Amino acid sequence: MPYYRVVGEIPRKRHVQFRRPDGGLYAEELMGEEGFSSDSSLLYHRYLPTAIIKAEAVEAPASTTLTPNLPLSPRHFRTQDLPTGGDLVSGRGLLAGNADVRMSYAATEAPSELYRNSMGDECVYIASGRVTFESTYGALEAGEGDYVVVPTGTIHRWVPQGRVTAFVIEAAGHIRPPKRYLSQYGQFLEHAPYSERDLRTPQEPMLAEGEEVPVLVRTRGGLTRLVYRNHPFDVVGWDGCLYPYAFNISDFEPVVKRTHAPPPVHQTFEGPNFVVCSFCPRPLDFHPEAIPIPYNHHNVDSDELMFYAGGDYTARKGSGIDVGSISLHPAGFTHGPQPGAVEASVEAVRQGHTQTSELAVMVDTFRPLDLGSAGLSVEDPAYAWTWAR
Ligand SMILES: [Fe+2]
Repeated sequence: MPYYRVVGEIPRKRHVQFRRPDGGLYAEELMGEEGFSSDSSLLYHRYLPTAIIKAEAVEAPASTTLTPNLPLSPRHFRTQDLPTGGDLVSGRGLLAGNADVRMSYAATEAPSELYRNSMGDECVYIASGRVTFESTYGALEAGEGDYVVVPTGTIHRWVPQGRVTAFVIEAAGHIRPPKRYLSQYGQFLEHAPYSERDLRTPQEPMLAEGEEVPVLVRTRGGLTRLVYRNHPFDVVGWDGCLYPYAFNISDFEPVVKRTHAPPPVHQTFEGPNFVVCSFCPRPLDFHPEAIPIPYNHHNVDSDELMFYAGGDYTARKGSGIDVGSISLHPAGFTHGPQPGAVEASVEAVRQGHTQTSELAVMVDTFRPLDLGSAGLSVEDPAYAWTWAR
């Protein structure tokens, strides 16, 4: 994260004695990225963050298997048809993934257990409902349209208020604002489509009592349940530039040109070998002869996965795509608007149509995506042929 924050109580200097009311020392924990060479935060625990009393192997769910996209096809997965179940961690149905990133969908009502993903950052897009994100850094309230970015190794849990649906991006590395939006020291620049004021962060410590508390830990080797002697939510204060935060997609300020602007103007985050883009309601392209929907394109180095989060998809009319759909347009295939959509969009402008209401989250990967079992279970088999109708 680009800027410094303080939550709760901390001593005036780093790494000096900081004592509890009973005279004992608080235990420091430095959470830092890239081997003490990137962003970090220093947390002060009431109990030792190292005190575990048990480690149990946990079998990986079968739904984490991936199969190659062969024969090569554009895909349409209907997340609307996936069942409600599990929680925001265990209930993730895998849609697609590769060695850099995995995309899943979850529809759930149950609170998750404590979870630590030590493989990489997560970006959880809340498509509907309300949920409390609780963590060692504090809590965040999240709702429809929020991206919640969770740094690697953050112990947390999700507590929904009613039914929640989410599109989940799990990186094998860190998810950050694009470098081109930031000054050399990390401040958002004026041309960036969002700024520090748009990011919501924990405001106060999150304290919980408890002994023998299990935490599900995900590493490259698999899943383990570590049992902590004391509840990990025992941080009285922290400071630094590394913490979870929420950003609502409606706070993304779209960039509009007279003729159609390409997806990099919608970029919101970057991760290792992938980008995340937000397509938000905005004025249509306004050149008098503009074609206000995308041109056919072949992004030769990318697979493009799109989650349709809301609004109306003029460009996709006739494709079966609807709110909740996922499309995957892989490298090796040229994609674009459905037949007739270009003329229809020009006509709509002639009739006085000036806005697009589309709301979508796109993940472009720089290496091919394999297909997840949950995605394949709700695939629309007719989608690939809809341009030839
Ligand atoms: Fe595309």
